[in-house]
Amino acid sequence: MPIVYQEESKQFYLHTDHTSYVMELYEDHLIHSYWGSRVNTIPNVEYFYPFSYGVSTSAHDIPGKLLNSTDKLHREYPTYGTGDLREPALQVENAAGDSITRLRYESHRIYPGKPQLPGLPATYGQDCETLEIALFDAFSGVRTVLFYTVFPQKDVLTRSARIENRGDKPFRLEKAASFCVDMHREGFEVIHLQGAWARERHIHRQAQSAGTMVFDSKRGVSSHNTNPFIALVSPETTEQYGDAYGFCLVYSGSFSAQVSGEQFGSTRVQMGIQPMGFSWELAPSESFQTPEAILVYSDCGLGEMSRRFHRIIRENVCRGKFRDTERPVLINNWEATYFRFNSEKILALAEKAKQIGVDLLVLDDGWFGKRNSDNCSLGDWIVDRNKLPEGLEGLCNKVNDLGMQFGLWFEPEMVSPDSELYRAHPDWCIHVEGRPRTEGRQQLVLDLTRPEVCRYIVDAVSSVLRSCPISYVKWDMNRNLTEMPRKGFAHEYVLGLYRVLEEITSSFPDVLFESCSGGGGRFDAGMLYYMPQTWTSDDTDAVERLYIQEGTGLVYPISSMGAHISAVPNHQTGRTTPVAFRGKVAMMGRFGLELDLGRLDQATLDALAAEIALYKTYQQDIHTGDLYRLLSPYKGKTAAYQIISQKRVLVFIMNISATPCQAPLRLKLQGLLPEGRYKELSTGEVYEGRTLMGAGIPLDARGEYCDFLKVFEIL
Ligand code: DGJ
Repeated sequence: MPIVYQEESKQFYLHTDHTSYVMELYEDHLIHSYWGSRVNTIPNVEYFYPFSYGVSTSAHDIPGKLLNSTDKLHREYPTYGTGDLREPALQVENAAGDSITRLRYESHRIYPGKPQLPGLPATYGQDCETLEIALFDAFSGVRTVLFYTVFPQKDVLTRSARIENRGDKPFRLEKAASFCVDMHREGFEVIHLQGAWARERHIHRQAQSAGTMVFDSKRGVSSHNTNPFIALVSPETTEQYGDAYGFCLVYSGSFSAQVSGEQFGSTRVQMGIQPMGFSWELAPSESFQTPEAILVYSDCGLGEMSRRFHRIIRENVCRGKFRDTERPVLINNWEATYFRFNSEKILALAEKAKQIGVDLLVLDDGWFGKRNSDNCSLGDWIVDRNKLPEGLEGLCNKVNDLGMQFGLWFEPEMVSPDSELYRAHPDWCIHVEGRPRTEGRQQLVLDLTRPEVCRYIVDAVSSVLRSCPISYVKWDMNRNLTEMPRKGFAHEYVLGLYRVLEEITSSFPDVLFESCSGGGGRFDAGMLYYMPQTWTSDDTDAVERLYIQEGTGLVYPISSMGAHISAVPNHQTGRTTPVAFRGKVAMMGRFGLELDLGRLDQATLDALAAEIALYKTYQQDIHTGDLYRLLSPYKGKTAAYQIISQKRVLVFIMNISATPCQAPLRLKLQGLLPEGRYKELSTGEVYEGRTLMGAGIPLDARGEYCDFLKVFEIL
């Protein structure tokens, strides 16, 4: 039984194979007792506080008890206004205008499986058990149901909350976090993923500061700048050792993650919808569901934390037929042609691509309306016959005749002011009557809170998808939200988007969808629920990608990251790297190409063909295996990653800069069975796991942009 309530001690135990999360009812307050390595029992909360403290500063809202104030308790879902005056998880404006909420335990239930969250993406599966705890404030009618689902074999806990109005007056939610955890200590280091367009998700690790650290997006999307993921680690934590607590929000809109050092030496961590600009009225008997968060604890470092995130996102967030199957190697024409293409050029690209082993051609931006640059036509999803005289169907058929599948780019959430759609429906974009409409990339965002706008999008995209055999869709989104007309709008937008995505992706189960947002501006678990891969970044430079992909891979699996070999000199950085180096970096993701094959000599085409063949040989190992980060480009000039699948161990080594006169380094492998036997493919030599982990393999780290792939068969 992964979840147990012990009546005598009033404790809830949530066990996974290697972790435990323990809560206690203390005078009907739900308090946090423990989260860490697996335990059988934890003493009651007062055991840990053998003396009284903080007497004069805290309001005594639990009279007669040693811990006489909620201000001292480690609370599961703190509210504001009686004893606990710290940052609340739930902030309500009551009908009378006050912000007081006092939640007390009402009831709980434990059941197998987990419920879907209405209108929201979330983890799913049978191999789990759920605990619901209801807390109630009889004075205001605020009832909160906390959801805890345990995936025991995956060592994962998920949390969310549903807020209900059980009173007879309306109230407003001003903040409703998905979870709160009061950790028993401070002095953590906080890891977060920061960046910008073409520099997404770089890893930042910094000491926890006094006060509150906030990592958030107010952009209407999860954003290029901050990702909805944080981890708290001990200063000594490494890839293989030490405490790592990871938190990932399954949400694609504005969010906030807060880490607050508290007066009595604890740390309050919470995450959820961005409270700024949020407000949600709940009339009597209405309810509000928060997004879900995935919580992972590892006592053996960041590597294991990541692997646990990878498994749950790969198998219990991503859905559809492409979740487990091989996916096509694609070529995208964006960096090959940008807007300057016609069907002849596209077919020439497809023909060459086919010769080197590519399976699918993606026609990117510019195929519709009169779009020869990014200043018009979004919303007019009608093929441009000047560029493609035979129409999409004709082109698609010709690509299919070459033995290749056909894929198409859309940016369905947008409208260009210069478009037929905008001329017909100028009120369909997000705007405030009378205010100027701020453009980004010469475009406006459609108002996905309006059902008729969502209907237009679903119908327009569906009719194109029905018009010919399209096997892949790239769903782009190139700007942030401005001029939002009311509080709560940003969340309403996301709910509208999720409805649209649910309808389209379930109507076309055989289409592979890849999400994109000006590169990786919406790389989150929410989008991965609808589309199993995301374009990681518009920076396709292989060296830059090492940093971006390692940051992304801290939480998201390799199987979810679009990664392409592009031209040299690279269009974003001007750097020139060999095909093989670019190939290995792209193999640490969903491999594809994005360059004009017509400009390449035969030797380069042969080199590309070799990378494609190599990827095809190992793609299932790469996308289903467990990732071990052996050497990080953040720490040195060599990146090394190891993948253990059911059959093989793959070691990818990418060297960024040259070191002359260097003896071979020894690269120690990880995660093998000490007594296991591993046969190196190139030499046929068989090694014991303990040898490969103890003594390592020789690593030639001399050359600039050199790469190695070592493959071991598991005997
Ligand atoms: C941004 C995407 O990230 C690119 O790959 C490309 O599709 C462009 N948009 C097209 O406008």
